[in-house]
Amino acid sequence: MGRVAGKAALITGAAGGLGQAMARMLVREGARVALSDLDLNGARALAETINAEHPGMAFAYEHDVTREDDWVRVVGAAVQDMGGLSILVNNAGIGGSLLWAEQDTLENWRKVQAVNLESVMLGCKHAMAPLRASGAGSIVNISSIAGLAAAPGMGVYNATKAAVWLYTKTVALECAKAGWNVRANSVHPVFIKTPILDPFIAMAGGDEANAHEKLARGIPLKRIGEPDDVAYCVLYLASDESKFVTGAEFKIDGGLTAQ
Ligand SMILES: NC(=O)c1ccc[n+]([C@@H]2O[C@H](COP(=O)([O-])OP(=O)(O)OC[C@H]3O[C@@H](n4cnc5c(N)ncnc54)[C@H](O)[C@@H]3O)[C@@H](O)[C@H]2O)c1
Repeated sequence: MGRVAGKAALITGAAGGLGQAMARMLVREGARVALSDLDLNGARALAETINAEHPGMAFAYEHDVTREDDWVRVVGAAVQDMGGLSILVNNAGIGGSLLWAEQDTLENWRKVQAVNLESVMLGCKHAMAPLRASGAGSIVNISSIAGLAAAPGMGVYNATKAAVWLYTKTVALECAKAGWNVRANSVHPVFIKTPILDPFIAMAGGDEANAHEKLARGIPLKRIGEPDDVAYCVLYLASDESKFVTGAEFKIDGGLTAQ
């Protein structure tokens, strides 16, 4: 208990599978959480559940991470409601269309780039001042194993997640060079059981177990991940336990990329 006691985290895409797991875990370990999502009802429902057990620890905001004005509003509100900001988790993201290069569209690329990549730049930009002011800031960018290894049909997802991987290092080095105590690291999960896998379940005719079994085939541990597998990594990076860790990438992949 208390690994992030007194800290204040903004988590984007907090109503989704990974966001919910991170939020619950950070609160269990003592942090206040600002839960932002396009899905305001989802963020509110999560905040209510958390506050029922830990009163006053969670706040919900409607947030389109592709919009700069939303970032300004949400960061301002989160800082005000929580009394500061020490952790930013850029978690909101969408899958691509699963189209191969020849069939893919500019519209699909621009949409996925805006949600998965431009949002990370906007978050780092607009949260930096309060993160610096906290005296010990941590940025955790949720990339993917798909940012380190390519797969057919994953073009724009691969490209955006690879860009998040390297951009995180740029931000880490800028903060270090400036002498700010703000760290930045990226997290790279393989398939984790959340709604983002729904297209794969649809491809398996709606048979979830079958889809998960297919997705697990290439993974040495022979299973796909649970949201808490990622949340534990975020907890470590958000805490001062990782105070000498910056510009690094963390693979949560059941051994996939060890092969
Ligand atoms: N689950 C996996 O298998 C997996 C693997 C690797 C990486 N990831 C990454 O983890 C992150 C979280 O994914 P998840 O698995 O929880 O998916 P999810 O679909 O359960 O949740 C994503 C959340 O992001 C929100 N969102 C979408 N567009 C948004 C926007 N423009 N502004 C604000 N919020 C928006 C959605 O409303 C949703 O609540 C994503 O960046 C995803 O790419 C997931």
